[in-house]
Amino acid sequence: MEKITTLDNYTGHKNINGLYQKIINQVPKHSMYAELFAGSAAIYEKFTVPAAINILNEINPEVYTLLCEKFKFKNVVLWNRDALEFLQKMKFIWYNDVFVFLDPPYHHNSRPLATELYEYEMKDIDHVQLLETVLEMDCNIMIIHPKCELYDNFLHDWRKVEVKVRYHKKTSIECLYMNYPDPVELQDYSFLGKDCWDRQRISRKIEAYQKKFKKIPVLERNYIINKLNELKK
Ligand SMILES: C[S@@+](CC[C@H](N)C(=O)[O-])C[C@H]1O[C@@H](n2cnc3c(N)ncnc32)[C@H](O)[C@@H]1O
Repeated sequence: MEKITTLDNYTGHKNINGLYQKIINQVPKHSMYAELFAGSAAIYEKFTVPAAINILNEINPEVYTLLCEKFKFKNVVLWNRDALEFLQKMKFIWYNDVFVFLDPPYHHNSRPLATELYEYEMKDIDHVQLLETVLEMDCNIMIIHPKCELYDNFLHDWRKVEVKVRYHKKTSIECLYMNYPDPVELQDYSFLGKDCWDRQRISRKIEAYQKKFKKIPVLERNYIINKLNELKK
């Protein structure tokens, strides 16, 4: 396998238009974010409202070094560990408002060609261990993986959102498996909406409300805002 010298266009990255927005629109508000198969950490990078604490982990030392360079001025803790061991250690420690995002190397059965994509791959048994471990955890977890029987079987109780992805002229279905209900409050609302037209519709609505609210005397306005805040669940 060739030496990795850049994180641009990283194999299996999730910086795909139409996918990253759908991922972020499913991420509930949290105070700690942990991405344990980081690769280029494309999803972490997309958040415009990052959590107070952020952990990125990647097993490949070359990729880890590039991540350290990329995020040296950011508020991120970087680890170079085996995610499976890491999860075993943390499974009873992380709970409540910890959000874990897992984008493991795809199971070999989900790859059109049985090619090795990474220096560090996962065997069947590693996928099973990963799935058994996440089932024991209480914090909010999202796993992204292409449609796959093993994942469907283990995570049959989890919520599943399927996203059709068009990438390099190929269409595939990515599944977001989540162990939590539909979020009622998001970590980052910047990508809310079904598509760019829907996001434009929401932005216009916000602008119209802001314009209206700016005309109301300040105390009356703040009183209304306080009352509206009560509607937040
Ligand atoms: C599908 S890629 C992640 C891509 C990433 N989401 C992005 O947007 O760039 C999976 C990554 O997991 C790493 N990896 C493989 N086995 C691992 C393990 N046991 N622990 C941690 N990382 C691992 C690979 O080196 C690879 O970078």
